Amino acid sequence: MARTTTTYVCQSCGATYGRWQGKCESCGGWNTIAEESVAATGVGGAPVKGGAKAGKGRGRAFALAGLDGMNDQAPRTETQVGELDRVFGGGLVKGSVILIGGDPGIGKSTLLIQASARLARMGHRVVYISGEEAVGQVRLRAERLGLTASPVELAAETNVEDIVATLSEGPVPRLVVIDSIQTMWTDTVESAPGTVSQVRSAAQVLIRFAKKAGSAVILVGHVTKDGQIAGPRVVEHMVDAVMSFEGEGGHHFRILRAVKNRFGPTDEIGVFEMTGKGLREVPNPSELFLAGRDLGAPGTAVFAGMEGTRPVLVEIQALVAPSTLGTPRRAVVGWDPARLSMVLAVLDAHCGVRLGGHDVYLNVAGGLRIAEPAADLAVAAALVSSLSGAVLPADAAYFGEVSLSGAVRPVAQAAARLKEAKKLGFTKAVVPEIARGETVEPGLSVQAVTNLSTLVADIAASGVARGKPGSPGDD
Ligand code: TYD
Ligand code: MG
Repeated sequence: MARTTTTYVCQSCGATYGRWQGKCESCGGWNTIAEESVAATGVGGAPVKGGAKAGKGRGRAFALAGLDGMNDQAPRTETQVGELDRVFGGGLVKGSVILIGGDPGIGKSTLLIQASARLARMGHRVVYISGEEAVGQVRLRAERLGLTASPVELAAETNVEDIVATLSEGPVPRLVVIDSIQTMWTDTVESAPGTVSQVRSAAQVLIRFAKKAGSAVILVGHVTKDGQIAGPRVVEHMVDAVMSFEGEGGHHFRILRAVKNRFGPTDEIGVFEMTGKGLREVPNPSELFLAGRDLGAPGTAVFAGMEGTRPVLVEIQALVAPSTLGTPRRAVVGWDPARLSMVLAVLDAHCGVRLGGHDVYLNVAGGLRIAEPAADLAVAAALVSSLSGAVLPADAAYFGEVSLSGAVRPVAQAAARLKEAKKLGFTKAVVPEIARGETVEPGLSVQAVTNLSTLVADIAASGVARGKPGSPGDD
């Protein structure tokens, strides 16, 4: 006999309260708390009986195993979508549950129907459950992508008990896609689909199925405006891996990034391009990010970065302009604004570059988001270039971390960065001191800088030599 209890749950963070209140004390959100009634269930989904005690002798003894036991089957299945497998850590792990979050319209359904079709064509059983679109709509998309010949099993369903019952018939599916977790609902919870308790309970049922049957389950989750996976946020700790699928509005690039991964690294990215025929893998992202570079303009520097094990070269663009505002603007796309403030402060304190009266705009080209401090040097170079009007050499790449003292510090994987720069036709690299000897790339001249002020002086000098700065009308 399931007892029904009423709780008040914050719809953005999942905190529960005994009574309604206007503000969530946990996340600070206003008007996010909603009433939800839940049938009181035990962990395993069995109703808790009134007054039942977890007394002694009620449990069942089970066998314990060692770490070196044999696994009976190959634990991973490659989807053959290379960029997807890279982020998963080498393929889909049996019995794992992956949450893929992203803005609506970013291409989650497209990515997953393409991966499903690949897997199905290899002879695996793949089931795609859509809670958002009718079977006809999914078919229409498959037709457009040229995938209709793939034996993917489709259904438009939202009740997880029905879904699990269907999946349990026939051979065990290798992959089950649930699009999306926000549309799923379970009989055991009375609140509407999409509420925190529904999402949590529905996910629990699907996770239990994955672990028991050994299917890999991918849950799609939509994110809210503030970038959090709404509702599914409360699922993050229950699943094995959390991926986010990102892209900048006007760009065609899409980046799949692992936020959490129990079976692989979390710093790998998969890069895709959205085309008229679905998502195309981009095995060499640097070429894409550097395409259409504006070579003759000041304020751009190429950063030799790393995304996981893969070097990625990307253009950093800066615009420094005199400000008419009391507090000048600082706008950043693709980088950490706090990091920009730090670089500006170091330029001011140690290099005599005063930007207090200037607006500063910084953009990472192509919609990539950089988290590495190694981008400091490239950012500083782009800023100084924009301020002085001096164009940086088009064939130079930059990397290095700037410390608060103005020193340029070494970063990891210098060799891989230099190698990629060389491969893409760069002939010059401006790097921290230590990287010089460690990595000799023939045909690449490496300029080591120990201090940011040296670099600033270099750039300023090259600007003066060209008849800049501040001579308007100069090309
Ligand atoms: P979709 O996969 O439905 O996004 P999500 O599931 O994340 O909400 O992608 C929809 C967008 O992708 C839509 O704006 C159109 C675009 N798109 C293409 O550009 N090319 C294609 O081949 C497909 C199928 C979609
Ligand atoms: Mg979709």
